Amino acid sequence: MPYIPEETIDEISARADLVNIVLGYVPTLKQAGARWKGCCPFHQEKTPSFIVNPDTNMFHCFGCGVGGNVFKFVMMIENLDFPGAAQLLARKYNVIIPEPTPVHRSGNISKESGYNLRERLFLLHEKLAAMYVSNLKNNPDSKAAEYFRSRQIEPGFALKFMIGSSPDSWDATMNWALKEGFTLEELKQAHLVSERQKSPGNYIDFFRNRLMFPIWNEQGRVVGFSARQIDKEQGGGKYVNSVESPIFKKGRLLYGLNFARPDIPKKGSVILCEGQMDVIAMHCSGCTNAVAPQGTAFGQDQASVLRRYTDTVLLATDSDSAGMAAVLKDAAILLPMGFHLKVVTFPGGKDPDELLHNSGPEAVQKAVAEAADFFEFLYSASASRFDSSTPEGKIRIAHELLKYIRLSDSDIVRDSYFNWLAGKLGLSPVALEKEMHRLNKAQSAPLRKREVVQQNVDTKKPAQDLPDSMSDRMLNMAMLELLEVALRNSACAEKVARELSPEYLDDGPVAIALAVVAQAFLDHEPEQAGRHIASALVSCEYDYSAVSALLAKEITGSNMELDLKVAADCLKMIRRNRLKKQVEEIRRQLLSIPAGEDRTEVLREFMRMTSELSKL
Ligand code: UTP
Ligand code: MN
Repeated sequence: MPYIPEETIDEISARADLVNIVLGYVPTLKQAGARWKGCCPFHQEKTPSFIVNPDTNMFHCFGCGVGGNVFKFVMMIENLDFPGAAQLLARKYNVIIPEPTPVHRSGNISKESGYNLRERLFLLHEKLAAMYVSNLKNNPDSKAAEYFRSRQIEPGFALKFMIGSSPDSWDATMNWALKEGFTLEELKQAHLVSERQKSPGNYIDFFRNRLMFPIWNEQGRVVGFSARQIDKEQGGGKYVNSVESPIFKKGRLLYGLNFARPDIPKKGSVILCEGQMDVIAMHCSGCTNAVAPQGTAFGQDQASVLRRYTDTVLLATDSDSAGMAAVLKDAAILLPMGFHLKVVTFPGGKDPDELLHNSGPEAVQKAVAEAADFFEFLYSASASRFDSSTPEGKIRIAHELLKYIRLSDSDIVRDSYFNWLAGKLGLSPVALEKEMHRLNKAQSAPLRKREVVQQNVDTKKPAQDLPDSMSDRMLNMAMLELLEVALRNSACAEKVARELSPEYLDDGPVAIALAVVAQAFLDHEPEQAGRHIASALVSCEYDYSAVSALLAKEITGSNMELDLKVAADCLKMIRRNRLKKQVEEIRRQLLSIPAGEDRTEVLREFMRMTSELSKL
């Protein structure tokens, strides 16, 4: 390990303020008494369990168990080794670390100066970005300059985003860098040069004659470039991006985050765009909370970075089929992580940049302000393709939405959207649940698996778990619905008393309440049911808020026929669910009987149950 004198380390420790540093990464950190508390940046959580103690300058997360001092925090969050973290802090707090070895001007970097490489690469990129800017400015007659003007980027923002151009030459950049004192090895490490295929050992510039966008990391250091083609004849694709290097890791990087980071918590959301031109257009329009993935599709690592700043993402992709696909793919990543999603559309342009030039900044602001809730958006998109007035159309729409509703990590969110969807389609939640079952059955396991792989969804639960947990939730909903009709309609209470045998009821709060309603009916005092439920639940160890919410609700006009129909549907579902579980249990029993032993009895029971189940 390279040597950093102990006094230097002590000096950094003394000057570094951990609360202040953590705030840079966890802007939602709040003072709680003598300590500071926030959501841990090292694991996903919604209730804060990450503590910073300013007295000791230490942190600890009670959720995932990590903790340590200021060096440990920077090492973990920046993925640095100790010297790297020390350097970063030294720079921030103006502590000078004595240079251990002189930087070599040619040849390979020696081992000792290896820790210096990252800093050298930052410096190289920062100087290069400035060189590209002056190259653009000093060559107003170049094709690059002409193309730059055609993009009509406001001068102030072109400066802020340091837009430049790479020289129209095979080696001008390389020669410039060598003259600046950087080494060929450093240029190779940064992939700023490529080896000539026909003459190994000879190098040419990687970026040539393109419009250059520097890419900053979260801390505002230049770590790479994205280079725009300036005419269609130019080979190599519309954008060419820096190759990953010791300082450029695409997976965690978000273009524009260095500028957007203070504004994301202020605005309460982040705008996720497709590319850098979109981000620039957003910032030009005053939407300063915009970022974009860089040179790679949006993924989970970037989502966790965003999680530190906000729980609301506005998806702002192009209005074309690729953009729609991106919305769905992003949603599949973000929903299981607990984000609330909205979708921005650009009427009168295909993306923010076009809209800005066609209709001005107010139009972009308006588009952002009018972002639609993701599920509303999905519903409209789906309803424009399928006829929501026909049963067939309802099924198609339901399928499309349920696929995403079930991805949300929160029961409350899932339930709310489930009920919302039932309302939208004019279906009872129970009918929708049946459709869900059909959907699950129709989709054989391999198909589901393929679908999940296709979407590259990395949900927390294995895909196979989804149908089961869903059916449990649906069972609960059916019981709750049954309870509601039984409470307001004694004919339904009677149905429960006669048809719902106690063995169907577990010891959950809804089941307890249903049993009480049935008993109250049998005792000829159905109107007392509510009061009895309340006292029965006092000692219930489960969360019974769903039941108490129901009891607190005003009983409004009931429709006898409809209520009875709902009760019948719910009862059927509950029975079916219970039977299914029994069949499963007996199947397990059957399988566990050793070969050669008599299985007739169990087999007969199994047959009886399966035939009963098929009748339902
Ligand atoms: P787009 O093709 O939508 O580009 O790609 P754009 O942002 O609208 O840019 P202009 O207005 O045509 O110049 C969106 C993003 O995808 C990445 C880039 O980051 C781009 O900003 N991309 C696109 C590439 O990395 N390579 C490509 O060849 C194309
Ligand atoms: Mn685009």
